[in-house]
Amino acid sequence: MKCRQCEAKAVINMRQHKLALCANHYIQWIVTQTQRFIEKYHMFTHQDRILVAVSGGKDSLSLWDILWQLGYLTEGLYIGLGIDGGVNYSSRSHQLCVQFAAQRNLNLISVNVPQTYGMSIPEIAAHTQRGKNKPCSVCGLTKRHIMNQVALEGNFDVLVTGHNLDDEVATLFGNTLNWNVGYLQRQRPLLLDNHPGLVRKAKPLCRFYEREMAAYALVRGIEYIYDECPYAEGSTSIYYKGLLNQLELDRPGAKLSFYLSFLQAKETGFFSKPINLEYGEENVGAGGETLYTCPKCGQPTTAKGLCSFCRMMEKISR
Ligand code: AMP
Ligand code: FES
Ligand code: ZN
Ligand code: ZN
Repeated sequence: MKCRQCEAKAVINMRQHKLALCANHYIQWIVTQTQRFIEKYHMFTHQDRILVAVSGGKDSLSLWDILWQLGYLTEGLYIGLGIDGGVNYSSRSHQLCVQFAAQRNLNLISVNVPQTYGMSIPEIAAHTQRGKNKPCSVCGLTKRHIMNQVALEGNFDVLVTGHNLDDEVATLFGNTLNWNVGYLQRQRPLLLDNHPGLVRKAKPLCRFYEREMAAYALVRGIEYIYDECPYAEGSTSIYYKGLLNQLELDRPGAKLSFYLSFLQAKETGFFSKPINLEYGEENVGAGGETLYTCPKCGQPTTAKGLCSFCRMMEKISR
């Protein structure tokens, strides 16, 4: 198959876009599309200081590479979780982030959880008995807290993550199955810093398929960690991704259209006016909760008093 733009051999065929491109035109396409998404969703500008959360995986390192090519002011943040899993998961992913930053002369901020808090993520999970043998919820809570904290303390204008379309669609699918309205309301390409202690968050890759990001990392020669987190096995999101892949196979473009129609429904106000079905009148509900400020860390929380992260940390210090 040949490239749509030139006569060279295509490296990727995107059935959902009816588009095949060679390596050079593919890189150009990804970079240009990302810039379009950044502008469309008003994510950030060339004046903003951007903190890129990098895990060592293909998505976040590709994102940093794209923003670097586009000339944005970026620094990276790597959070060392202390996960080994027999494959040196954390130390290898850290090494790849360090190498990536050095090759481009970019600054990488590293936060090591075991060194900072005295315990690794699996140890905190075992100690606090949150999530039984799965440290994923402890991990998510800790990552969100550290990302927000580093972005605020470093006076960054925006925090960006490498969530791709497959991630967003799996989340959307799960939240729709459970009609988790609060989460559906919050799921967006851009979250504003509309509360003290909260940083603006953006997901510039939210419209790219996972496969497209893997191809981008490959043609750009980005070295990334192939292993998934050892605790991800058997997770609900991987199960949903499998179902959605089946759907995509039969109907190319189904994932993208599910996600884009969801964003459109939001624009028409579908999620902004909760209706009380029983009384048929408007009612304030999930997603519109009042936010308080955690007296310990200063980050926003839906609870009066300590936030979930600080409460968890109180437990391990006892
Ligand atoms: P995940 O929650 O593992 O699907 O990752 C989603 C995004 O969160 C990644 O694309 C990164 O931007 C960010 N991220 C995940 N793990 C880390 C980490 N250990 N350090 C910094 N950022 C991370
Ligand atoms: Fe956090 Fe797997 S438990 S990345
Ligand atoms: Zn070409
Ligand atoms: Zn707190």
